[in-house]
Amino acid sequence: MAEHVGTGAVLVVDFGAQYAQLIARRVREARSYSEIVSNDLTAAEFAALEPAAIILSGGPASVNIDGAPVIDPGVYDLGIPILGICYGAQLIAKQLGGTVSRFEAGEYGRTGLTVIDHGRLLVGQPAEQSVWMSHFDCISEIPQGFTATASTANAPVAAFESDHICGVQYHPEVSHTEHGQSVIERWLDDSGVDRTWTMANIIDEQVQLIRDQVGTGRAICGLSGGVDSAVAAALVHKAIGPQLTCVYVDTGLMRKNESEQVVETFRKTQGIELIHVRAADEFFEKLAGLTEPESKRKAIGETFIRVFEKAKGGIEDAGFLVQGTLYPDVIESGSKHGSTIKSHHNVGGLPDDMEFDLVEPLRALFKDEVRKVGAELGLPDEVVWRQPFPGPGLGVRIIGEVTPDKVAVLQDADFIVREVLRQAGLEREIFQSFAVLPDIRSVGVMGDERTYGYPIIVRAVTSEDVMTADWARIPYDVLETISSRVINEVGGVNRVAYDITSKPPGTIEWE
Ligand code: XMP
Repeated sequence: MAEHVGTGAVLVVDFGAQYAQLIARRVREARSYSEIVSNDLTAAEFAALEPAAIILSGGPASVNIDGAPVIDPGVYDLGIPILGICYGAQLIAKQLGGTVSRFEAGEYGRTGLTVIDHGRLLVGQPAEQSVWMSHFDCISEIPQGFTATASTANAPVAAFESDHICGVQYHPEVSHTEHGQSVIERWLDDSGVDRTWTMANIIDEQVQLIRDQVGTGRAICGLSGGVDSAVAAALVHKAIGPQLTCVYVDTGLMRKNESEQVVETFRKTQGIELIHVRAADEFFEKLAGLTEPESKRKAIGETFIRVFEKAKGGIEDAGFLVQGTLYPDVIESGSKHGSTIKSHHNVGGLPDDMEFDLVEPLRALFKDEVRKVGAELGLPDEVVWRQPFPGPGLGVRIIGEVTPDKVAVLQDADFIVREVLRQAGLEREIFQSFAVLPDIRSVGVMGDERTYGYPIIVRAVTSEDVMTADWARIPYDVLETISSRVINEVGGVNRVAYDITSKPPGTIEWE
């Protein structure tokens, strides 16, 4: 996991809860480079990585149960500054000779904290403040050499510190903890950690790494119009210029004006060599008569491979494949990828027999950081802030058979949905928003005429991580504008419905 760790990183030790990623992001927001590592590294391995500091993150377990995750106690003797958060704080207390026990009650959510001694960590903070807690056990006795610096009603030791080790029972990384970010920043400063990590540094560093990796070779990058592949391509282009060729397959299933925008952005604005493959006819031919969702997905995937293979023409000598893999993918896969893989396993839809060395310049970044890098590289807002879009495109948003006519109806309706939300200033807070065209028609009346037309279903969701989602509470007047514009401006549509299903039980897409 920690393949990118360089001297001077803040290592966040993962004990298997959801907190490690958030902590790593907060450290980066404080402009220090951070990486997540597994708790099974030995003290010698930690020392070899030469980190600037170590954070022991929260975890789901009690430190007192058999098999609870621990850390090599030798880490405490390395002299590296350590901060324990929640489970991490309890682990420090227990491993260094203190006591962790069940108290009368746990504390979950907003809790009042009283500062006893401002010490090193709580300098400049109010004596009474509100923090976010999530614990049942608590530290009842601190190890020798430590001072308790704060308490809450059910945690006599809510913060404690020694010369180079600190712990907090509460969660400074969550936004509900009033002075949480200043705890993190104060600790970084007190620990002498460099706080100059910026997007411009990342770009310079990656440009050099890409040049070292690719040398005089040739690289290709499949552009989907999505932000990850776009930023990866722009970054690699900055490094190796014309040695990079991008391939953009126009499936005919893209959003309105999307293909033109991709070509405009990359070929004209960024000056990247771009092979634009117009393959809509081929896709529609393969989709004719298909109605079952999985058969449609399969047909789109297979056609993509064939089209890509044909487009290989001018790029056959490419030895490198650029991919927009992000840090959460790296953490989740939990593996150190070999550098050569069958591209098919990583990129939905590349030919099985093409082998490449991968160039993955975004492997260490979170999505919000990728957007910042994109903006820094001069990519337009429409690309940098683009919402996720599924590989099979509008093909999974047209229920039943996909035809060019239906795609045209959906493109127009979808364009209006997104335009109205953008004008209402809601685009960035909504995770995904789009239109769906179902395979039914209903009766209506327009003017004095009876109509028999398609409904359009509007889907808009909020989500942090796509695994769960909620339907967005769009104001009624915005929904009304969407409804009247879609019905007035899109031929063949006479009704608009809003999907109020969360995920689960629904999925974000309809197919
Ligand atoms: P669901 O519909 O499963 O979607 O809730 C979760 C997220 O994944 C996107 N999605 C896809 N992305 N290829 C992709 O690259 C696909 O085949 C695909 N299907 C769904 C979807 O838009 C949402 O963000």
